[in-house]
Amino acid sequence: MNPRDDERIPGTRLLHSPGPSPLPTEVLQAMQRQPMDLGDPRVDETIADCDARLKRLVNAPPGAEVYWYICNGHGIWEAVAVNLLDVGQAALLPGTGHFSEQWARLLEGLGRVAQRTPWREREVFDGASVEAALQADRERRIRAVFAVHTDTASAIRHDLGAARRALDASGHPALLVADAVASLGTEALDMQAMGLDVIISASQKGLMSPPGIGVMVCAPRAVEAIHANPAPRMYWDARTRGKGHSYDRFFGTPPLTGLYALQAALRLIERETLPAVLARHARVAKVVRAAVAGWAQGGAVALYARHEADAANAVTAITVPAGVSVDDLRRTARERFAVQIAGGLGPLFGRAFRIGHLGDQSVAQMLGAIAGVEAALRARGVPVGEGASAAVAAAAALG
Ligand SMILES: Cc1ncc(COP(=O)(O)O)c(C=O)c1O
Repeated sequence: MNPRDDERIPGTRLLHSPGPSPLPTEVLQAMQRQPMDLGDPRVDETIADCDARLKRLVNAPPGAEVYWYICNGHGIWEAVAVNLLDVGQAALLPGTGHFSEQWARLLEGLGRVAQRTPWREREVFDGASVEAALQADRERRIRAVFAVHTDTASAIRHDLGAARRALDASGHPALLVADAVASLGTEALDMQAMGLDVIISASQKGLMSPPGIGVMVCAPRAVEAIHANPAPRMYWDARTRGKGHSYDRFFGTPPLTGLYALQAALRLIERETLPAVLARHARVAKVVRAAVAGWAQGGAVALYARHEADAANAVTAITVPAGVSVDDLRRTARERFAVQIAGGLGPLFGRAFRIGHLGDQSVAQMLGAIAGVEAALRARGVPVGEGASAAVAAAAALG
């Protein structure tokens, strides 16, 4: 047996990666149920209940369809790509950083065209470049704008409204698709108010469930586009998944345990109410940013987002100077202080660490994690100011 398997760490390990996020007790308990036989009507009822709760969560328009998949976020990227675009057709991807670039590369791997607007370091994507690209597309080659809402790598929440305005101003008929993998349950998202044709997401972040379920919510205009698209596809084909028996909804055996978990998590969100969930995320994020501002007084680390107003409520990215090993910092935080944080991704690899604060999080729990991260920074000799006490002061001031 690996000695780590039965190594008990007293107390609670604080999971602050930006997904997978911690599972609430109610979600863990829901996962203890046995699977059901697939003819049991309760299976269909469970899926229908998740459909209804998810539609309410995103304020889906009348006639919207929910398509479920056993997959992670990359899988749901592929699902939306092959369902909306034929081979050779284009999507416009506002440059948000690592995740818009990964999505663009996935499209290219599938023989679709990815047109990118330039990424602006530490900033939200540039709406003017999106509008210019749409204006220039006289032949209407662009079928959809694929916009990442919260880019989890840079920890910046982008302005989906800027993409909507660019589409409206240019009179371009492309669909607006939002990657809400990190923003669902952490930021305001309203398909009707924000003019979103598609929202895609995954179970393991704000939805407080284990990784493994991807979902696509489509407004009627997107459903029509899916049916009109002649691209060959099979497992990912949404046309076979929208309605019917649970076996069809998942193109095979549904992930029952994951669905029980998701249903429990969606119930928790409704019980707390979405406005309260979002306000809690905003409060927790504010406390984290107060800690970062305190640490930054030491002159070594800094908030990655140029403007605090653009910093996401799900995760915070913090830059470190050359010579500080993010891997060592993470190891110290995890092994000595039981706080699990993430490293930098893509262009921020080795340049930043990230603190996740999404899902089942409270201010008090966050203060504990902040203290652990500060202890790790100090233990690694990184000069930092009084971040933990600044966070406590910010928490007290929240009222
Ligand atoms: C915004 C966003 N989109 C897509 C993904 C890809 O998700 P996955 O890692 O589940 O494949 C992630 C993962 O962190 C993400 O943050």
